[in-house]
Amino acid sequence: MPQYFGQLPILEQPWSIIGTIKTFNINDRHIDFSCTNARFRITILAPNLIRVRFTPKNEFLPRRSWAVTLDDSEWEKTDFKLEETPETIEIKTEQIQIKIFRQNSHLHCYDQSGQPFACDAETGLGWRSAEVAAWKQIEADEHFYGFGERTGLLDKRSEIKTHWTIDAVDYGPLTDEMYQAIPFFIALRPHLAYGLFLNSTYWSQFDLGVEKPGTWRMETQSQELDYYIIHGPQPAQILQTYTQLTGRMPLPPVWSLGYHQSRWGYDTEEVVRQVAQEFRTREIPCDVIHFDIDYMRGFRVFSWSPKRFPNPTGLLGDLSQAGFKVVTIIDPGVKYEPEADYTVFDEGIQKDYFVRKPNGQLFHGYVWPEKAVFPDFLRPEVRYWWGECHKSLTDAGVAGIWNDMNEPSIADRPFGEKGQKIWFPMDSQQGPLDEAATHAETHNLYGLMMARSAYEGLERLRPHERSFILTRSGYAGIQRWSSVWMGDNQAVWEHLEQSLPMLCNMGLSGVAFVGSDIGGFAQNSTAEMFARWMQAGMLYPFMRAHSSMGVGRREPWVFGDTIEGICRKFIELRYQLIPYIYTLFWQAALTGEPILRPLLYEYPNDPKTYELHEQVFLGSSLMAAPVCRPGVEYRAVYLPEGVWFDWWTGERYQGPTHILAPAPLEIMPLYVKAGSIIPMQPVKQYLDEEGFSQLSLRIYPGQGEFTFYEDDGHSFNYRQGEWATTVIRVSQKNDQVIVDIAPRQGQWKPPSRTIIIQVVGIGEKEFVDDGTGYQWQFP
Ligand code: GLC
Repeated sequence: MPQYFGQLPILEQPWSIIGTIKTFNINDRHIDFSCTNARFRITILAPNLIRVRFTPKNEFLPRRSWAVTLDDSEWEKTDFKLEETPETIEIKTEQIQIKIFRQNSHLHCYDQSGQPFACDAETGLGWRSAEVAAWKQIEADEHFYGFGERTGLLDKRSEIKTHWTIDAVDYGPLTDEMYQAIPFFIALRPHLAYGLFLNSTYWSQFDLGVEKPGTWRMETQSQELDYYIIHGPQPAQILQTYTQLTGRMPLPPVWSLGYHQSRWGYDTEEVVRQVAQEFRTREIPCDVIHFDIDYMRGFRVFSWSPKRFPNPTGLLGDLSQAGFKVVTIIDPGVKYEPEADYTVFDEGIQKDYFVRKPNGQLFHGYVWPEKAVFPDFLRPEVRYWWGECHKSLTDAGVAGIWNDMNEPSIADRPFGEKGQKIWFPMDSQQGPLDEAATHAETHNLYGLMMARSAYEGLERLRPHERSFILTRSGYAGIQRWSSVWMGDNQAVWEHLEQSLPMLCNMGLSGVAFVGSDIGGFAQNSTAEMFARWMQAGMLYPFMRAHSSMGVGRREPWVFGDTIEGICRKFIELRYQLIPYIYTLFWQAALTGEPILRPLLYEYPNDPKTYELHEQVFLGSSLMAAPVCRPGVEYRAVYLPEGVWFDWWTGERYQGPTHILAPAPLEIMPLYVKAGSIIPMQPVKQYLDEEGFSQLSLRIYPGQGEFTFYEDDGHSFNYRQGEWATTVIRVSQKNDQVIVDIAPRQGQWKPPSRTIIIQVVGIGEKEFVDDGTGYQWQFP
């Protein structure tokens, strides 16, 4: 129910209905419908994409620049036909048909075989005081995925999903609002999937058949309903179009794909040095150390504690020598500290960059530094200034920024006094004058705009090196600026299990670079849980162990030799797989594909995959079945249609089938699809480590093709053509396997190296890579 903070619930008021179509007008891209009580517009943007706008007022709202990257006029023109019947007005593109019924203004969509989807139900479009809504039919075999950051399992049918960013501390399977608010979903049934993006930054909600089974409803506390329907028919095409609309991730630096170690409580330079040292002496690969709020002087953002971190440049220089990158946390709350020579506060006040209340007074609340004020990141000049503030960090050698508490999370009195969470007043103004908006409209954007400021700032401050940005809060399109972690999870088995569907649903919402805190943030992990979490964690696109102050430590060695050995083995596997994983990141940057995927993404026509939350794909070749419960030695695994190989033993299986997979503590069941080509490298202690001149292609007999992507991994030269792709194919004739490596494309040249072709179960061949291609037949 639409109930939140201070605003009166608008419950129980009746909905006004749109009525009958009176007239309609065709423009080159859109059709305007005038109805008895309101109006709506359908814009045809692509053969599989339409936008629907509905307003009870006379005018549509002005365009907002925040989430949708392409204006309607920027889409290539799409041909469509319009026909009229006595009952309907029908629009046809190459891919879909849309029927609008004159009598009730209902809109129904059909695919080419005549299958209906996204059909209006009941009221169709309606409104009441400050809310607009639409009702649509749920088809009998339809399932719902995406919705951004969500707890619980995969399919969200029969649930209510609200979009309002909050500090979701202590979240559990029933939590609704989360740190991220992404009003997008994919509805799937065999042979037909569609995506729906509700383009509203206001409070909004999807009811997936709770109030009325068989009907889903979307509503938002805006004056206009603005949504996009994207036809697949497969999830992959939906994500491609959705990320064309909201943007795609940039290529991250390769080092950010390595293992990250973090803890709230690495509170002195000595502790950090010791942690780094342990990784190197124990030979456990690690690329990144995160500095939590401990590094600051009294939690003042953009400062270093002179006592505990007296020489950041020296410390970061030494860490860099040892192959570590440093990521520092930054929160939005700026300590309220007049006349104390705290430049960030002084400048922000002087330039009037902090959020004010509707009466013009400065807004303040309480966070780590006690009384704090908050930048208005909606304003470009504020984003620029904040971006420049990062210089104090990048000058010391910081390579990445971790944005936290940016929902924003604010209390009404000092921490420790158990205050209430508060927000800026709903009608306080944010944003530039020409696009000013209330907090009610922009609340969900606070984290996104903060991350954007950090991303743009670091790109200016480190113009030759890619940086890494991590955020807790965000809105649709956050993938353009930042990676995302799932906030404060807990060291309980249920959270390990839930991390898989959570991250998969993020991937299905256009956000590919995601991870959960390995080992759980709050509470104490057991040795067994930590080992299992590290196994699943090696599949997370963002792989970081992090823990709260006051709980047991979570470095790979704290649970003794056996667990350390298991952690090493799986971190090493991650490092070996980096050439494959980096190619997945490139695909995500190019097409919006998820990196970690639920099985339904690869097998959308196989209903057996629809509820399978405990098995995941890393790319389209590797399928893992992590263990998420204690004491497990075997687990059930579903192998969909096709031939599969066990990663560890090479054993071959014919799918579809269920198997009982051995899963002793040192094994995470892992399978490879026949015809897969997996580029791998030797284990390194950190990803920039030099002196390795070998690439292995692990190939599984069958038919397959893989486009392998490479570049220097750290600069922006790839934007000027300094990249390389190699198309590798495998085929099989009777018992003969043929591997065909096409000549390398692009201007980037890898350092000289040998390539080892390993056809699993069949044979190996080594050759010197000169980029001209290679063909080999086994036997
Ligand atoms: C928040 C973050 C957590 C961090 C802590 C201290 O709880 O979610 O990751 O360690 O703040 O900064």
